[in-house]
Order: sequence, then C-alpha cells, then structure tokens
Amino acid sequence: MATMKAIRVHAYGGAEKMIMEEVERPVAAEDELLVRVHAAGINPVDWKVREGHLQDFLKLELPYTPGYDLSGVVEKTGGAVEEFQPGDQVFTFRNTATPGTFAEYAVVKAAEAAIKPDSLNHSQSAAVPVAALTAWQSLFDVAGLRSGQRVLIHAAAGGVGHFAVQFGCWIGAHVIATASAANLDFLEQIGAHQVIDYTAVRFEEEAGEVDVVLDLLSGETRERSLPLLRKNGILVTTLPPEPPAEVQAKYQVRAAAMLVRPDRLQLGEIARLIDSGKVRPTVQSYPFAEFQQALRQSQNGHTRGKVVLVIRN
Ligand SMILES: NC(=O)c1ccc[n+]([C@@H]2O[C@H](COP(=O)([O-])OP(=O)(O)OC[C@H]3O[C@@H](n4cnc5c(N)ncnc54)[C@H](OP(=O)(O)O)[C@@H]3O)[C@@H](O)[C@H]2O)c1
Repeated sequence: MATMKAIRVHAYGGAEKMIMEEVERPVAAEDELLVRVHAAGINPVDWKVREGHLQDFLKLELPYTPGYDLSGVVEKTGGAVEEFQPGDQVFTFRNTATPGTFAEYAVVKAAEAAIKPDSLNHSQSAAVPVAALTAWQSLFDVAGLRSGQRVLIHAAAGGVGHFAVQFGCWIGAHVIATASAANLDFLEQIGAHQVIDYTAVRFEEEAGEVDVVLDLLSGETRERSLPLLRKNGILVTTLPPEPPAEVQAKYQVRAAAMLVRPDRLQLGEIARLIDSGKVRPTVQSYPFAEFQQALRQSQNGHTRGKVVLVIRN
C-alpha cells in the first residue's frame, strides 16, 4: 500500500486538533488526476470546517484531511482523462465536501484543473484558486463590474480582497479599498485608487457613491455599505445569507451571496493575467511541518494576501 504524510483532524476544534499522520495515498478515479502536492493555499473555510461551524452544510466523516487549494505535479491520470499527462504542473481547488490538499498527494477532477501560471512557483500558484476565483466570480459573474464603475472592496488586503483590487484595476474600475493602517501602502502598491483606514475613519464618510460593493466581512460593515450604493447598484457578499429583500428594496439596491465554484477557463484566464504581469499574488509561506502556526496565522483575520503551506520544495 502506498502511503503519504497528511494533516488529519480526528475531532472538531482548534488548530491543536490537527496532527500529521502517515495515511493511504488516494487513487484517481476515471475522471481525476492524482497530484503530487507542492503547496496548498490556506483559506478561512479551513478553520471554519475544522471547528465544526459548517456541519449543517458539509457532511464530513472524521478523521479527514483539510485543505482545498493546491498546486503541484500530475503523478497519474484517471483512465478517461485526455487533457493532462503525468508531469503537468497544475493548480485548482477541490470542490468536494471532503477537502484533502494538506497532504503529499491529493486527487482533483481533471475538468476543474488548469496548467499553473509559468511565472509563479508552486507556493505562489497555490495561493490563487479559491481566492482569485472568488474575486473574479464576485466582481464579473455576479456584479458585472465594468470599466468606469466605482467599486468598494472591504478586507481588500486579504486573500480574496487583494485579487479583487487587482482585477478591478485591470477592468478599468475606480477601486476604493479598506484595510487597517499597516496595509494601506500595500493596497496602493497593488493599484487601489483610494484607500481607507477603517480603524481611523468611518469608511462611509470617505468612499462616496459606488456601483458595486464587495463584502468580505458581513455584519455592520455590510449594513453601513448599503446606503453608499447608487440606485440599482449591487452588493456581493461571500458570507451568506445576503441582506433580505425588504432591506434591498429600502435602499433600491440589489444584493447577492456567492459561492465560489471551480472554473478551468477562468483559472486559465487568471493565469494569463498573472503571466502578463497584471496580477500578482502576495504570499506568506510556511513549511509543511509548521501547519499549526500557518493555520493560526490564517485564522487571525489579518493576513496580508494569502498563507500557503509548502509541502515539497
Ligand atoms: N462564499 C465563498 O465561496 C467564499 C470564498 C472565499 C472566501 N469566503 C469568505 O470570505 C471572507 C474573506 O476571505 P479571505 O480569504 O479574503 O479572508 P482573509 O484573507 O482572512 O482576510 C483577511 C483580511 O481582512 C482584513 N480585515 C479584517 N477586518 C477588517 C475590517 N473591519 N475592515 C476591512 N478589512 C478588514 C484584514 O486587513 P487588516 O489586517 O488591515 O485589518 C486582512 O487583510 C472569509 O470569511 C471567507 O470565509 C467565502
């Protein structure tokens, strides 16, 4: 039996519930790739699942291996896979109830994988799938953001936010971004036209009228954002449920909750933007053995860019 090292969660709880174990290597089904994982991006969903907050939506059998994002090298292809070969360098995220990328090997659907950006190493590439696709789908598929529009992005220095700022600039929108003082220079470096320190001022006093709000925080930030929207403007939130219909009607705006989905064409387009130098992930990487520190860092809610686990150099 082929084995591998993997992070395992045997009981819901804090970072201390994760341990590294030797487990059986997964096997690719007909339509899957077995990927030798070089790096795995960490997302807030990882700690939310681990602490049991999503048990109503995600039915997991314990123990499980956490992690959705990966970047790595195809080790084997399933019998029906034609578009990839062993040795291809791919990136994607696992869109299944069972995660599993914080491990030396993981399986993913071939139809959901894409060739990783040439200009990134695996650690940078693993930062991309969930966060960049969330930003892309929120701004373009849901909000229909266009050149010349004004977009307010909250939590702009984080994983999703820092991609959203760069995508908003690329499409030609006026990007207004919120963060604490320590991240304002960073936001300007990645292109934000207007930055607001949410710890020093009330953002609504500086943002002005906007066409689109990207809400990555929910709560009172979301409530205070709705009146800033122009008539028929849209707030997209990654934290469902969206504000109720009567609240949307009161402000004459629309609101939509989104759930990220894998999309190989969009990943390919994002890879081209990265390789052309228009978009760049910011990454803090941790060696595999430091998985607890890495997960804690991600959970503190003040990450700049993405936290990534480097599984193989
Ligand atoms: N629905 C979906 O499919 C989906 C997909 C991806 C993510 N999500 C969710 O979306 C949320 C964002 O994800 P993420 O990966 O971007 O998170 P993240 O990387 O952990 O976000 C961290 C950022 O939030 C900023 N922040 C914290 N409080 C803030 C405030 N009051 N105002 C402005 N910025 C603030 C921090 O900036 P400072 O350090 O400067 O405060 C930090 O840069 C998470 O809740 C995640 O679970 C949902």
